[in-house]
Amino acid sequence: MFVVCDICQVNISTAQEYDRHMCGKRHQARLKSYEERKKQSNCSVFVKGFPPGTKDIELENYFSYFGKVKHVFFDKQHNKVKGRSFAIIEYEAPNSAQIALSYKSHVLNSEHLIVRPRDFKELQTTPYFPWQKEKERQQLPWSNYEEPNQIGAFGQQRQQFNMGRGHFGNKGRGQYGNMGPGQYGNMGPGQYGNMGPRQYGNVGQGQYGNMGQAQYGNMQQGQYGNMGDPYGEDMGFGNQGYMSFYGEGEEQTQEEIAKRKKDIEKQKIQKLQKERAKKEEEEQLPITLEELNQYMQQKMVIGISNQMNTMIELLQVTPEELQQRYTICKTLEDALSPFFPGVAINQFGSSVNGFGIRGCDMDVYLDLSKIGIPCRSAKIQLPYHRDIRSVKKNAGPFNQEEVDSMSNYDKVKLISRILIEHAPSCHNTLTVPSNRCPLIRFQHEVSGIKCDLSVNNKLALQNTRLLQTYSLFDQRVKPLIYAVRYWAKVKGLAGNPKAGNQLSNYALTWMVLYYLMNTKPSLVPTVEYLASLCGNDRTWIDCWDCSFVAAQMIPSSKNIQTTEELLHGFFSYYGSFDFRASCICVRTGLIIPVAKMVLDKTMKVGVVNIQDPFVLNHNITLNVNDKMASKISQELKIAETKSKTWFDVKFAETKSITDIFNDIVPEGLNLDAVNKTVDASGLVLGKYQFLVPMKTQNMTPIKLRELEEEGDIYLGWCKRMVKFIYGLIERVLMFDCEIRTTNLPEEFHKKTRTYDHSKKVKLATTGVKRGPDSTDEVTNAKKSKTEENKVIEDKKPSANSENTEEQKNKNPQCQVDARKEDSEVPMETSGAEGKVPEGPVDPFDAEIDFSKNEIFLDMDVLVFLRIWAERKKIGNKLKERGFQESIELEQTISETLYYDYLKPSRRPILEFRLIIRSDVKPGMASSLLVEAISRPGMKEYDAVFHFVKKFVLKAVEKWF
Ligand code: UTP
Repeated sequence: MFVVCDICQVNISTAQEYDRHMCGKRHQARLKSYEERKKQSNCSVFVKGFPPGTKDIELENYFSYFGKVKHVFFDKQHNKVKGRSFAIIEYEAPNSAQIALSYKSHVLNSEHLIVRPRDFKELQTTPYFPWQKEKERQQLPWSNYEEPNQIGAFGQQRQQFNMGRGHFGNKGRGQYGNMGPGQYGNMGPGQYGNMGPRQYGNVGQGQYGNMGQAQYGNMQQGQYGNMGDPYGEDMGFGNQGYMSFYGEGEEQTQEEIAKRKKDIEKQKIQKLQKERAKKEEEEQLPITLEELNQYMQQKMVIGISNQMNTMIELLQVTPEELQQRYTICKTLEDALSPFFPGVAINQFGSSVNGFGIRGCDMDVYLDLSKIGIPCRSAKIQLPYHRDIRSVKKNAGPFNQEEVDSMSNYDKVKLISRILIEHAPSCHNTLTVPSNRCPLIRFQHEVSGIKCDLSVNNKLALQNTRLLQTYSLFDQRVKPLIYAVRYWAKVKGLAGNPKAGNQLSNYALTWMVLYYLMNTKPSLVPTVEYLASLCGNDRTWIDCWDCSFVAAQMIPSSKNIQTTEELLHGFFSYYGSFDFRASCICVRTGLIIPVAKMVLDKTMKVGVVNIQDPFVLNHNITLNVNDKMASKISQELKIAETKSKTWFDVKFAETKSITDIFNDIVPEGLNLDAVNKTVDASGLVLGKYQFLVPMKTQNMTPIKLRELEEEGDIYLGWCKRMVKFIYGLIERVLMFDCEIRTTNLPEEFHKKTRTYDHSKKVKLATTGVKRGPDSTDEVTNAKKSKTEENKVIEDKKPSANSENTEEQKNKNPQCQVDARKEDSEVPMETSGAEGKVPEGPVDPFDAEIDFSKNEIFLDMDVLVFLRIWAERKKIGNKLKERGFQESIELEQTISETLYYDYLKPSRRPILEFRLIIRSDVKPGMASSLLVEAISRPGMKEYDAVFHFVKKFVLKAVEKWF
């Protein structure tokens, strides 16, 4: 007789051999690897159905919605063949995989994804008799429990082989064990079978155990469901639970239930996500919001300014921590000076700039520019250096020449090895390559302080001193920066400068200082002014003027605002700041239009632009993306509204600094409106409006120069954009456009096609069978109304007989009227037949005042073909034949649909009015507001508007 070890795929024939096998290295290693794989599998989901060419970052971004993603693995075929492939998403926690699996409608790039648990072949982790496994396969699991003798026998045999805690053992003593065979036996296999292993696993033992046999037998689905979590589909009885959620009497369609269920699931996931992110952010803070609140209440700190001062006490780096930081510097010096005699260890960043928060990272700069004579005579051996190209090969300390000949990255690699060998308290040492500033990152063992060590950062040292100067110059600077840093941290806006999209604390500090340069009167001077005070005694680093005077030399400010006023002022100033169009220049204290920055090639521009005070070609906020910029603007507006109440006597007793940190949305502030407020002018978009902003940061200097040569960059852009959008609607989407009014010459709205709809009418009326008409249901729905309207039309005097061509050309409104009557089927009108409609004017016909818009175009758009239907399918087919994504391809898709697939309807499916108008902020920015207006009750209007909006915005982004 022998037992089988599943893990090692071997047979073990004796007890002696068994012991040896189980303790053996190979078995242990395989067991460990199996458990790791199992863990990995539990944390992963299998995904397929995404479009070919999907990038791992897209999947990662999407699946991060359910938890922190560790890895994305594609199958080997991905990118090699054009076809479908699959991917495995591995999360950091199994819970995230469960959440992703419980979500039932995954859509990425408009494709529904199939998300399944990752396959994993379960093995028995302890050896078993071959017949045991066979029996297990043949029989239903519970049948074992009805045969106590057999269990006993297994148990005995297991004991012989030390297998007491095996597969069966766990079950026997666990959930199943609590259920008597009788109780369980009453449940038919069908019922049991409905519960998949995963579902069953999620049902807590307690819940299940509490259900007596009788209860279960008598219960209706609904009653049973009450015990379930109405949210949890992955609980065994979630479905029934959900049904009962509405009560038996209420009739809910399956769709409604599914929709509601989906919403609830979504909300639950969002809530979890939010809580997790918030917790992570809070964990990095020395004092949580709750603790801060409690502290303020207990100590009865009254008044915002006082509370801001208290925050400094609570947040700033303690003297003990400063001492620890000093000790780290000493450790570094001791380890490095034998190799680099005379090395100087300088701290920079928040540890020393006056704005440091307890536990913050420590930034250290090693100055290797003053290597001296070694003071110790002992010979030193350089650590392993085969991959360090520029390092000298012999033993002994470096001299200046040798240090200077090394590349920065080689220096960093060498120093990292020296630290590993000679500074054991520096843990988890890691080199971070970078062209600009390679780093060594480590954690100090005793204090837990994380440290970034660099070798080429004189500029950082100098800007740290500059920040220090500002912090010492006026006592209001520090509380303000602490409060803003804390606010930004709890809101997830700042603090991860290395790789993320948030603002760096350095950038945030400069945002505050820039605001203080622009208060009236200014509270702090500009960097340029500080440099001017140096006279000819200038400091140059890497060709940049880095001069400034000490705080004591600066004339004090005449500004008398309180920190409370200043904090509100900060939120208010940036709450309506146009980040996309303006570049903050802290050196001069001025705003420079982004377009100018691009034209002058001063620095690379992004969504948010703040120029470094010394290195003028460095944009310190280049990492901030669109989403983060919108989040920053939104939080600024919320904080502005909240802090405004501080100046209302009603709230004099209750106001607290924590108001701006909590998640409460102030009454009267419509978050929707805040989200839809798209620019500094506070324009709130309506349901059928969208904005096309001029994204100067994406434009090349050549393009901008062309616009400049045309007279005005911003107006020039508007004109070209109107032409582009008109082309998209009229030429690419093949909608029939008729201009009502515009101030642009014809070359900007040139008609490329004329549609002969009258011919189609003839065909239809002469009884020739029409081709497949995709508008049949609309047509039928309108049929009776159409008949009526036709009669009315016949009774009406002819429009053409009244309006001469000349009149039409003079009066754009006449064009509209003529057009309406020309169209074969009149659109539904809101007024009563034959009467002048009473009440407010239908916006479809309303006169619009364009006097405030530099450029405008108002037109009627008739849609005769569902150009959006099957668009994707045709597009994919064409792409498979080698067509590249382009505006020409979009036009080909439309034409294919028009001529080969859909066949245009003889009646318009829809008519809407499309208005495009400019919003120019002279010398700074511009955008186009696109608005669609339809008559009331227009079917498909919503769908068409959203299609047009998405199409136009995508096309602008890609092809303008
Ligand atoms: P941080 O953004 O880390 O700022 O930059 P901080 O004030 O130290 O805040 P913590 O560490 O997040 O609490 C650290 C230093 O790096 C330099 C500056 O000297 C800054 O003080 N730095 C940072 C630059 O020179 N340029 C940058 O774009 C960013």
